[in-house]
Amino acid sequence: MTILVTGAAGFIGSNFVLDWFSQSKENVVSLDLLTYAGNLENLSSLDNNPRHHFIKGNIGDRELVLELLKKYQVRAIVNFAAESHVDRSIHESKYFIETNIIGTYNLLESARSYWHDLGQNLREGFRFLHVSSDEVYGSLNPSDHPSNEKDPFKPNSPYSASKAASDHLVRAWFQTYKLPVLTVNSANNYGPYQFPEKLIPLCILNALNDKPLPIYGDGTQIRDWLYVGDHCSAIREILINGRIGEVYNVGGWNEKTNLEVVEALCSILDELKPKSNAKSYSDQITFVKDRPGHDRRYAIDVSKLEGELECKPKEAFESGLRKTVIWYLENLNWVDHVASSEYQHWVKKHYA
Ligand code: TYD
Repeated sequence: MTILVTGAAGFIGSNFVLDWFSQSKENVVSLDLLTYAGNLENLSSLDNNPRHHFIKGNIGDRELVLELLKKYQVRAIVNFAAESHVDRSIHESKYFIETNIIGTYNLLESARSYWHDLGQNLREGFRFLHVSSDEVYGSLNPSDHPSNEKDPFKPNSPYSASKAASDHLVRAWFQTYKLPVLTVNSANNYGPYQFPEKLIPLCILNALNDKPLPIYGDGTQIRDWLYVGDHCSAIREILINGRIGEVYNVGGWNEKTNLEVVEALCSILDELKPKSNAKSYSDQITFVKDRPGHDRRYAIDVSKLEGELECKPKEAFESGLRKTVIWYLENLNWVDHVASSEYQHWVKKHYA
């Protein structure tokens, strides 16, 4: 049997595919459009693996997706494909609407058409697992309880609104057509292969290049941080034992302010790669203009996942962050390859 992983050359998608091959004997078809944040190098260790098939393409290309589903007799789709950077969604919302909403809609329709024609056993076993974000629940006040699966959606950015819309479509395809779906809403992920537009890799690289570490506003905004490996394990578990039509939150119980995160990574760098002038990297922290509509706090309640599937994150924030810093220090070549002219252009435009 085979699973189809979309967005497989991106950050979470590639971690998931690599993790899958270390755990499972099942084949994987990786689909990715290889836009700026997708990098085939992330999957290069699978180059000669006959159980892995990479296809460059769009989740919105119904003909292609249907052909792949039939050709490889896919028994599950795991949908990571998405535009994911909030700041970019503020500058260019169009791509978020196209990929996250219309792309997911087309993928659902391809899946439905394929699933509809399967024999009874295969129909019952089929799964469409959609990967989404805790940002759909909107911003929390300090005294609010962490968001749970029953909380209403209150998305504030073009990014989170597009993910919320896709989650609604997935739900509707279950309610209306009985397509066997699962939805995962996860906290902020961090770990190897994250594109350096996001806070943690951006600050690691800026620190090493003697550049400012840009903190939006006062740096007291809170995010819940999840090590990407824990996210991958949770998805594997949900794919096997999750109840059809259900939503599962996945988080790390790790609420941190942005300033705490950046200070923690500076102290790891101070230890692993001390600056020649013996100063701390934290001297490079620079407060910059805030993001418009910047959500104050995300926190996610993962009791459902822990109670129903006995699935808990393994990585503590400190150890996960250390692993991440070490990975970037050991993979500066990877960074050079992904830091394309498009990336340089983005950094120049956004942080000007
Ligand atoms: P980010 O990694 O973009 O993820 P998200 O917006 O999905 O949470 O940002 C994490 C937090 O860090 C968010 O509160 C915005 C903040 N941030 C900065 O302070 N400076 C930066 O340069 C970036 C990219 C993010």
